[in-house]
Amino acid sequence: MSTTLEPEGTHKGVPTYSFDNREDGPVLSHQERWDAFAGAHSGFRSSISQGYWVVTDGEAVQRALQDWETFSSASVTALNPDPTFLWIPEMLDPPLHTDWRRLLGSEFSPKAIAAREPEIRQVAVELIDDLCGRDGAEVLDEFARRFPTLIFMRLMGLPEKDLDRFLDWVDSMLHLSFEEDPDHSRQMSAMQAVSAYFEEQIALRRAHPRDDLLSRAMTWEIDGEPISDRDMHAFCILMFQAGFDTVPIAIGWALYHFATHPEQRSAIVADPSLIGMSVEEILRVYSFVVPARKATRDVEVGGCPVKSGEMVMLPLAVSNRDPERYENPLEVDPHRSTSNHIAFGSGPHRCLGSHLARLELNVAVQEWHKRIPDYRIAAGQDLEQTGNMYGVKSLRLEW
Ligand code: HEM
Repeated sequence: MSTTLEPEGTHKGVPTYSFDNREDGPVLSHQERWDAFAGAHSGFRSSISQGYWVVTDGEAVQRALQDWETFSSASVTALNPDPTFLWIPEMLDPPLHTDWRRLLGSEFSPKAIAAREPEIRQVAVELIDDLCGRDGAEVLDEFARRFPTLIFMRLMGLPEKDLDRFLDWVDSMLHLSFEEDPDHSRQMSAMQAVSAYFEEQIALRRAHPRDDLLSRAMTWEIDGEPISDRDMHAFCILMFQAGFDTVPIAIGWALYHFATHPEQRSAIVADPSLIGMSVEEILRVYSFVVPARKATRDVEVGGCPVKSGEMVMLPLAVSNRDPERYENPLEVDPHRSTSNHIAFGSGPHRCLGSHLARLELNVAVQEWHKRIPDYRIAAGQDLEQTGNMYGVKSLRLEW
């Protein structure tokens, strides 16, 4: 992926590029391309498909994420301004969004998540112990994906025997390249399977409630009405997407980072109290989520004259890697106390699962380095990252 910028023209005075965020590229190439765009423009126009605006000024990105009245979540996919599906709560605007967040808040509060720590640690330890006696592994498949998926299934009350099925679906839905799935048929059939699976789980909980998030959600009311099966389903699908890929991606980056920065790895092994700050820095520097919003009125943002109904892409990386906000912004500094990054978003849709994600990440890095303190990237790998949400595609480590 090239980071040399050559606009193909202009649209309403703003530079245009045939910019496509879906393409895979070498490790960190998407983030570096954002640095280049942010250095050159405060915003630009992507000419692909129906066209959309892209804001590359960090402060403007944050302001737009907070201004839900102007930047609606009715669509959160830049290439699809009029989706025929709904993800709850991600694609709702206040006040309905606020009702859902209030109900969900107690399930994901710092206190509720802290109570799960012993169980979360035990799952991580068991998975890492299984790898200790070996001399290497593909760590995404064998650890980074299994660990948070198992925790998530327990939280939702889904049977653990379904873990491998879930991992297969996630893989088909999110990780197949164009060559592997040229007509998207594998992706579609995985989406249908996930949809049918949640329909069945919802029906089971309606008939026989248990002590899990899904059963508790059945007792919630919004405006005095119980939650319909349709909305419950939209909620399950969003949880599936939000919870299943993000933490694995972040664990993948943490292991990649410490494999390629042995001096920092030695520092966290010698002083595990540095892990908390390092994890925040990794989230900041490798920023991998790229939200989008739909304008509800004509507005100018990042120098782009946005018309009502148009899509606006709001990459978090341009704020998190902004040289005006951070000294040496591209460096992970385990001694830097970064609390103001926006890797979990900003505004009303800020990540619901951030406390869980932080705990899982900290536990993963702590327990991994207690057991496997010395490791390296296996030779001969061509390390690539996925488009859309940037995660290293495959990571084989040796120890
Ligand atoms: C390192 C891991 C994670 C990162 C970096 C992350 C990041 C984000 C970001 C940036 C958003 C806002 C998207 C937007 O503004 O359009 C978001 C929303 C969300 N996340 Fe996370 N997330 C992570 C883990 C999780 C986990 C583990 C869960 C749940 C189990 C979760 C559940 C959600 C939900 C439900 C939303 C939608 C919130 C709303 O619309 O109000 N996330 N996440």
